[in-house]
Amino acid sequence: MCGIVGYIGDNNVSEILLKGLDNLKYRGYDSAGIALFNNNQIEIYKSVGKLENLKNKMSKIVSETKDSLFGIGHIRWATHGVANEVNAHPHISSNKDIVVVHNGIIENYKELKENLIEKGYSFASQTDTEVIANLISDEYKYALNLKDAVRNALPKLKGAYAICVMCKNESDKFVVARKHAPLIIGVGNNENIVASDLPAIIAITSDVIYLNDEEIAVIKKDSVEIESVDGSLIPLKIVKISMEVDAVSKMGYKHYMLKEINEQPNIVRNLLNGRISDVNAKIKLDEIKIPLDILRNLSKIQIIACGTSLHAGLVGKYLIEDLASVPVEVEPASEYIYRNNTTDANSLVIAISQSGETADTLTAVRQAREKGAYIVVITNRPDSNITRYSDSILNVNAGIEVSVAATKSYTAQLLMLYLFAIYFAEVKGKSDDRISLIKEELLSIPTKMEEILSDDSNIESVADKLSKFKNFIYIGRGVNLPTAMEGALKLKEVSYINANAYPAGELKHGPIALLDEDVPIVSVLIPGYITYDKIIANCEEAKARNAKLITVTSSEDEKLKNLFDVIVKIPSVSDLLSPLLSVIPFQLFAYHISNFLGKDVDQPRNLAKSVTVE
Ligand code: G6P
Repeated sequence: MCGIVGYIGDNNVSEILLKGLDNLKYRGYDSAGIALFNNNQIEIYKSVGKLENLKNKMSKIVSETKDSLFGIGHIRWATHGVANEVNAHPHISSNKDIVVVHNGIIENYKELKENLIEKGYSFASQTDTEVIANLISDEYKYALNLKDAVRNALPKLKGAYAICVMCKNESDKFVVARKHAPLIIGVGNNENIVASDLPAIIAITSDVIYLNDEEIAVIKKDSVEIESVDGSLIPLKIVKISMEVDAVSKMGYKHYMLKEINEQPNIVRNLLNGRISDVNAKIKLDEIKIPLDILRNLSKIQIIACGTSLHAGLVGKYLIEDLASVPVEVEPASEYIYRNNTTDANSLVIAISQSGETADTLTAVRQAREKGAYIVVITNRPDSNITRYSDSILNVNAGIEVSVAATKSYTAQLLMLYLFAIYFAEVKGKSDDRISLIKEELLSIPTKMEEILSDDSNIESVADKLSKFKNFIYIGRGVNLPTAMEGALKLKEVSYINANAYPAGELKHGPIALLDEDVPIVSVLIPGYITYDKIIANCEEAKARNAKLITVTSSEDEKLKNLFDVIVKIPSVSDLLSPLLSVIPFQLFAYHISNFLGKDVDQPRNLAKSVTVE
């Protein structure tokens, strides 16, 4: 995923662009660049690696660039061509008149490139973006103005794009457009800014316009004009956003990941607020807009998601099947979209995506929508692309998540799935004492989360000792199998240590061959569920192979001390609700190991916050 910014106004353009890119860093990047309109020409600066490299480059030429009129910037996560300066954006047309930054993928770029080469255009990079620059340059020859050149070029592009375009002959504007990739315009006072996401905008203004697909905007210092691709003028719809500048600060924590882990109790508290007021009354989930008789008669639910959101979906399966007795299929979006799946007009599809921008999940939702399915979207970004294809939006309201490794958005997604499962069970007439007890227990979860977070020194010291291992196996059963999967994923993502997760009962069917004193087993052990003794037996089998045993448990059983090398206690909790608590030590464990090993906790190598390519 890439990030783009454009700014026009009287303030220092390069400073604002670099600050904007800084606030988009969480999207993941491997190179960065900016283009400035300065002294009646366009100057381009690029660097590979960290944004600091570009900042250092720019800091040496402050006096030369300080009077720039406007500019565009980009952080790139390589898709077409390796991460080097040639492939980094901005890209300039071979006529040297058009400069472009782009987020997305142009699917027909090869055909377009061949065509343009025949017409005499040349290419320096391997990117699809350079094709856009040359294509607009070609259109400019006939249109003779940037807006129309962009408009004429857009219908030729297949795929997804958010672009900012400058022209060397037009000193008062840049032009932006989008299709299936996010782009937001911030409307300021005698200055305007555009970006892929709000954090790059909030320092300038809280008045924003969400550009729609196939719309073009001309951005001048004192005006914004939007037109559709067919040329009709679109009235400006400015919305006030409430995001604080603090939303992207670390608030004193060493890393965003640690800050975000610690935000979980309040996020859950806020989500519960107003939804469960009386444990004997039905849950409020007014966001579900699907007719009740349709919900009552559903024979199946499909959940589609990727990464951490997929793990939340797996917990959702247990919850919905247990509480509402309706079968649930959970599938990675990347698998769902390439097979003859069984979605039809009677289906309910729940798509889970923190960012609402993940390409595989978006395609899955579009496909399901085309088949007439009802779509519920669980997301942290109600302003994102995915919500365009949904009947009901469940906003998990976790606040912006900057760390690439998802933590708070996961527990917020889980909480939403608990609420949905209870709501669905109640719609199906299944309300009973058990559901009242679950609601009561849900209300106690934020305080129990705080208890875990109030002292993580135990986990920190354990992480310290265990950071020398090269392989971990996480095991769980039932509703905590996804917790084990999420724990292993977190460790892999931020510390680059190999960690695999298995259903505990599967250990003996193969993975046990890996076990010795160098492969610790990490488990979740919640008393009260039928598999409690079975997991202990699985751990004993591992102990017999000299594996170190680590468990996250709410059990008070003293006998566990003899079996386990490390016990991380969580407060007493029912098995069904335990995933909301048991994942927190795993998040902290991954965080502390990564920190101890000196890894880039918030921006792990090779990862992007959301992957906008399939
Ligand atoms: C990327 C991120 C993961 C995330 C996944 C799905 O792979 O690195 O942390 O879980 O995308 O993202 P989404 O925004 O759809 O939840």
